[in-house]
Amino acid sequence: MLDQPTATAPNGGAQFFDALGDVTSDSLLALIAMANADPRPDKIDVGVGVYRDGAGNTPILRAVKAAERQLWETQETKSYIGGFGDRRYTELLRPIVLGRHAADDRIVGLHTPGGCGALSLGFKLIATAHPDAKVLVGTPTWPNHIPVIGAAGLKIAEYPYYDRLETRIRFDAMMAALNGASVGDVALLHGCCHNPTGADLDEGQWAQVVEVVARQGLIPFVDIAYQGLGRGFAEDAAGLHLLLDACDEVILSQSCDKNFGVYRDRVGSLFIKTARADQSKRAMDHVVQIAREMWSMPPDHGAAAVRIVLEDPALRSDWDAEVGEMRDRVNRIRGRIAAADPRLAYIGEQFGMFSMLPLTVEQVRGLRESHAIYMADSGRFNVIGMADGAIDRFIAAIVEAMNG
Ligand code: LMR
Repeated sequence: MLDQPTATAPNGGAQFFDALGDVTSDSLLALIAMANADPRPDKIDVGVGVYRDGAGNTPILRAVKAAERQLWETQETKSYIGGFGDRRYTELLRPIVLGRHAADDRIVGLHTPGGCGALSLGFKLIATAHPDAKVLVGTPTWPNHIPVIGAAGLKIAEYPYYDRLETRIRFDAMMAALNGASVGDVALLHGCCHNPTGADLDEGQWAQVVEVVARQGLIPFVDIAYQGLGRGFAEDAAGLHLLLDACDEVILSQSCDKNFGVYRDRVGSLFIKTARADQSKRAMDHVVQIAREMWSMPPDHGAAAVRIVLEDPALRSDWDAEVGEMRDRVNRIRGRIAAADPRLAYIGEQFGMFSMLPLTVEQVRGLRESHAIYMADSGRFNVIGMADGAIDRFIAAIVEAMNG
């Protein structure tokens, strides 16, 4: 066998990719990998935000499965669908997401690869218009918000949102920060089912936030990834609708990944509202160009299944029922955890998949080591992440951790 020739690097032996430093891997992705690698059969993975039923499975929704069957039988081509993706899908989402604003022609939308794709496009659009813009981000927020905003080259400033130890929204401090913001600052807000805390603004708080956003000339960027899993579709978008009442310029990233259970298919949308329809159209032309540079066109399959569900009255009503079942289960488990200990009562007043436990990082890691319970270091856990049979054990373990 001939000796393999060894390439000699001209720059003193260093290789091109030696320039790469270590990556601090995304904490949630790292947690998924850690939980998967744990061989203990009774492990409880309440890390990542996926719905699990009583048996601990994440099933494909009935309506989605039926739509996929239809798609398989009727789809005749997999040719390109264009930069806007599935336009009919985006159109069908409008009444669900925009409510009374659905017919406003100043709001334009496009189909994106999941909510994350929508966030990325929205922030890159902001950077295209205003490279120096600053984004106000609540603390804590979904951990991936920060790198997505950073990747768009935008500045980030934090506003206080939630006190993990006192288990309540830091509303006065949040308002003070928004009141101190400057015209053109972007305020990132969670539409509902706040991730990671589960602590949503109530109606009165939304009204005050909307007032300050409009008065200070801030640009609201609403991330709504869990619509329907909190109180109901209309209720979960009520704050967003108030913002649309009050503001001429709004950005909205939306996800169907959770409420249609199509996580891995990556199904989302971005909506932009500007003061005039022609300006919104121009903004969207930029968005399509930005998407073209990143992924060219969004993946079709998941959005096509969602479209079929929303177009078919029988599937649509089955989907509504399924989301209702998921929501009821989330709220039932919340009630059960809340009733277990007065220190957990706040969990019964929160919404969506997540809540945060007032535990230290050491306590969270202790739960991992001693009880095979996987939650984020921040104490965020997925309320709906465990099978029915694991709930009592979970509660006993967290109470033990809180005791100390
Ligand atoms: C989560 O917060 O667990 C989900 O949004 C999944 C993800 O991509 O982080």
